[in-house]
Amino acid sequence: MSTEDLVSVFEKIPTPFYYYNLDLLRETLTRAQEAAGKYSYHIHYALKANADKRVLEQVRKAGMGADCVSGNEVERAVAAGFHPSDVFFAGVGKTDHEIRLALEKGIGCFNVESFEELQVIEQLAREAEYVAPVAIRINPRVDAHTHRHITTGTEINKFGILEEDLQPVFALLEKSSWLDFKGIHIHIGSQITEMDVFRHMCERVNTLQDLFLRQGLEISLLDLGGGFGVDYNHPEEYPVPDFEMFFETIHENLNVHPGQHVHFELGRSLVAQMGDLITRILYVKKSGPRTFLVVDAGMTDLIRPALYETEHKIENLSWRKKREEKKEIKVDVVGPVCETADTFARNLDFPYSRRGDILAIRSAGAYGQMMSSHYNLRNAASVVYSDDIRIAKP
Ligand code: LLP
Repeated sequence: MSTEDLVSVFEKIPTPFYYYNLDLLRETLTRAQEAAGKYSYHIHYALKANADKRVLEQVRKAGMGADCVSGNEVERAVAAGFHPSDVFFAGVGKTDHEIRLALEKGIGCFNVESFEELQVIEQLAREAEYVAPVAIRINPRVDAHTHRHITTGTEINKFGILEEDLQPVFALLEKSSWLDFKGIHIHIGSQITEMDVFRHMCERVNTLQDLFLRQGLEISLLDLGGGFGVDYNHPEEYPVPDFEMFFETIHENLNVHPGQHVHFELGRSLVAQMGDLITRILYVKKSGPRTFLVVDAGMTDLIRPALYETEHKIENLSWRKKREEKKEIKVDVVGPVCETADTFARNLDFPYSRRGDILAIRSAGAYGQMMSSHYNLRNAASVVYSDDIRIAKP
């Protein structure tokens, strides 16, 4: 479908809305599965990136498992048709209710974040008379070289267990028949683009494996988390991340022993590029030296720029349709929410724009809709799926 056709459709839909390109999603999932399959790696999709039901349907059809961080995510995954044994449950603050629910559902693995949590899982499993499959999340002290808010594997982060704190964990795993030890889990952060970081992570996993083996704990599962980043600056040139490079880097650096399963919990890299946030310009506001494009989407729809000061590429789709002579101006693209942080871009070189023009805020498929809020009592943005758009032939 041409951009012109698509913009004509978008013009008739109330904004703001998320547009999910399911063709691109299917292609991304296929490419990721092919690249992982080369080494018999398994992908568990991290629902936290986007738990939209139709997105999940595609993920399940692609043959992936599910990585969840709340009881509700576990329920959503099972309801979406993921086999419970393909559902893993991570997170530093699992409640008793969530642990019981996951035990009853028969999930594949708890990724345990502390000795304290392991004790509670053991007790609840004993009470419910279910054996709990567990992997131990290690905090490996590896800096992911990404934004500090999405760094999880260093000493100041709340996630995982430090190597020197593992002794009581080993003791409980050996003692209890209600815990079925599967292996180790690591997730060092998100939007990681330097392959050296993953090399370093693999080296740490290799050493940690030896540590567990010396304790007589046999590892059947290596869960290496997610974190592989996408190109926010060039979504059109790189719509599908280079999964071949990512998995090859892991393959070249990770020691895998016979019989071990290697898992990944990819979120962003599978869904970021298939989603755009579509918004309309409400006002072109001139204020002293600045020009503000006030749009009808705000930080309540996409909080990433406000929270992490990240930039999503913004395009004026109406301009692309009209093909006017391109006059560049410097603009700030801002939302309607009563917060200065409600800003999508500052000092952006942008084509001359008018009230009513349709803009696309790109690469918004991951951690967009999921992190939305009702602040200012704003409505939730709706979702439009590419599969539902039919262009009438003339
Ligand atoms: N596994 C665990 C244990 C995680 O905590 C996460 C993400 C993932 C897997 C998936 O990571 P991914 O492949 O998507 O990088 N809201 C932030 C990202 C937070 C990531 C939280 N954990 C953002 O918008 O950038």
